[in-house]
Amino acid sequence: SRTVKLAVIPGDGIGPEVIAEAVKVLDAVTADGGLAFEKTHFSLGADRYLATGDVLTDEDLEAISTHDAILLGAVGGTPGDPRLAGANIERGLLLKLRFSLDHYVNLRPTTLFPGIASPLANPGEVDFVVVREGTEGPYVGNGGAIRAGTPQEVANEVSVNTAYGVERVVRYAFQQAERRRKKLTLVHKTNVLTFAGSLWKRIVDAVAAEHHGVTVDYLHVDAATIFLVTDPARFDVIVTDNLFGDILTDLAAAISGGIGLAASGNINPAGAFPSMFEPVHGSAPDIAGQQKADPTAAILSTALLLRHLGESELAERVEHAVTADLAARTGAARTTAEIGDAIAARVAQN
Ligand code: NAD
Ligand code: IPM
Ligand code: MN
Repeated sequence: SRTVKLAVIPGDGIGPEVIAEAVKVLDAVTADGGLAFEKTHFSLGADRYLATGDVLTDEDLEAISTHDAILLGAVGGTPGDPRLAGANIERGLLLKLRFSLDHYVNLRPTTLFPGIASPLANPGEVDFVVVREGTEGPYVGNGGAIRAGTPQEVANEVSVNTAYGVERVVRYAFQQAERRRKKLTLVHKTNVLTFAGSLWKRIVDAVAAEHHGVTVDYLHVDAATIFLVTDPARFDVIVTDNLFGDILTDLAAAISGGIGLAASGNINPAGAFPSMFEPVHGSAPDIAGQQKADPTAAILSTALLLRHLGESELAERVEHAVTADLAARTGAARTTAEIGDAIAARVAQN
């Protein structure tokens, strides 16, 4: 039997609530003993910061790095909480993990499951994956303010795009397209962001020359939001930068049954560092502590984790259990734990 060392970071708000259910499902799918998760729990996030002043220490990062994979809930306190004014948990914890562990692929699949109502009247077939760059773009923190706090303040945020960083994520996106419906859409804003846009476009064109079977399309990001709403079926693989990918994937979640269903993987494909799986949503302070969060996104993130580990059969069992649970939903409210219990029970039977 195989043992996988899993770092579990429940985080803040609804993070611990949804991760409890994701772990429940992982335990159910590994109950027959073929695969065992040796879990280490890391208490990180706003509560830890308020208690100790630490966000993510070098020791934490070192300890997390020794694991084979990471399961994360959500981090971030209540926006505007004055006690968190001096900290940036999102940057200091989540982005530090993504950058330090070189998670250059932020993989965000979008599927409209059978029985799930979309807010779109005629959604058609919604089944695409956003390959969001994870380590560059405006997220690098390469900015600064001049004359801060004065009427002359100038606040700069710099988007960093390297040929190396763009090429590796574009290559990954083409590989995804080869395994799917062979259609790749680059989303950018080449008409305004001409330097980065030109680099992305040239690299996509160059890599496309090695993938004759893949149809390549380009959309400006503003137009992409139109088509995500009017014709989502046109998308198979979307490749885009870190910030556009962030925004598009909340929209993608909304058209496919809501943010409570959207899973993601922060992936280092070659496995030099552990990859990290997490729901797309945040800590949802508005519903935290009330057992109102849908744990499905976190549970589907464990399926992505299992597939990344090469355990496709176990991943499919989780996905089938989720598909069945979604199809059987009646609209009656269930608690976070009730949804987790129902999915875990289906996993145990399938
Ligand atoms: P959010 O995703 O936390 O919440 C947006 C809305 O979606 C809220 O109304 C919330 O109740 C709802 N929602 C989210 N997850 C849900 C679920 N599983 N089931 C049902 N409803 C759900 O986004 P936000 O409000 O912009 O951010 C809250 C905090 O989370 C901020 O501190 C933000 O920085 C942080 N955040 C963290 C992550 C992460 O850890 N990956 C992602 C996004 C936001
Ligand atoms: C996400 C979140 C993060 C992001 C924030 C919390 C840093 O919105 O995972 O989508 O912007 O990547
Ligand atoms: Mn986001």
